[in-house]
Amino acid sequence: MNDQELKLGQRAKIKTEAVNLFYGNFQALRNVTMSIKECSITAIIGPSGCGKSSLLRLFNRMNDPIPGVRVEGKILLDDVSIYNKNMDVVNLKKRVGMVFQKPNIFPMSVYDNLVFGPKHHGIKQKAQLDEIVERYLKQVSLWDELKDKLKVSAFDLAPGEQQRLCIARALAVEPEVILMDESCSALDPESTMKVEELMENLAKKYTIIIVTHSMEQAARVSDMTAFMMMEPDGAGTLVEYDLTTEVFANPKDKRTEDYITGRFG
Ligand SMILES: Nc1ncnc2c1ncn2[C@@H]1O[C@H](COP(=O)(O)OP(=O)(O)OP(=O)(O)O)[C@@H](O)[C@H]1O
Ligand SMILES: [Mg+2]
Repeated sequence: MNDQELKLGQRAKIKTEAVNLFYGNFQALRNVTMSIKECSITAIIGPSGCGKSSLLRLFNRMNDPIPGVRVEGKILLDDVSIYNKNMDVVNLKKRVGMVFQKPNIFPMSVYDNLVFGPKHHGIKQKAQLDEIVERYLKQVSLWDELKDKLKVSAFDLAPGEQQRLCIARALAVEPEVILMDESCSALDPESTMKVEELMENLAKKYTIIIVTHSMEQAARVSDMTAFMMMEPDGAGTLVEYDLTTEVFANPKDKRTEDYITGRFG
């Protein structure tokens, strides 16, 4: 897809309107309005503490359990407010999956990691579960490596394999959106490259939102880039949000330019 099509043609999967987020008295996000395109990769970048993870967690209500948390404004998934009272949060988390910084594999076999979600959502037949394991390991290019090791503990895999297993596990519940919070930062360059290739493939079908401290990664893989910064009171704001090619080649805001050229952060 070329830049112009991306900017003009693609449907919004998630929209935020004037979002404020508070942890108790502390305001962590201020007036964040953005529209995230379907079937594309959006990168969120910015200095530590500017609220990138907080924003990402809002997209599947992962901030909910934090005591004293409060959200103002609107967050829409397919034009439906995810913070409305009728929202089925379990189903929301199925639709909007998360891959963390460190591979959070479960202490069980490769096979059981993969079927955990599908079983939870009611799939019981062995043939169907076997098929899921094969399909999603193939999607993350781990099938050939792991097809004879399905019963080994997932802890015995290399970190790069563990992270791809976590991605496969996230895919196995058939999400629409995948959130990735610095999901390559604990990986070596080769594994990082594999995960980046995977992201690009997945973006044909899924909407992917990543948080990264790597400018190179944002520039390499993302279609859209959001640059965030803190205001003097600590609240994170969206400074610039545009096509990645624009943000990196032609930043509109001096602060974006300073950040991407490494002058701070
Ligand atoms: N559970 C929480 N309770 C209170 N304050 C929090 C909580 N989580 C984050 N914060 C605060 O909110 C602000 C934004 O944090 P957040 O983790 O979203 O930033 P970030 O951009 O992801 O940073 P990093 O790049 O270091 O991961 C910080 O000031 C942080 O201390
Ligand atoms: Mg973070």
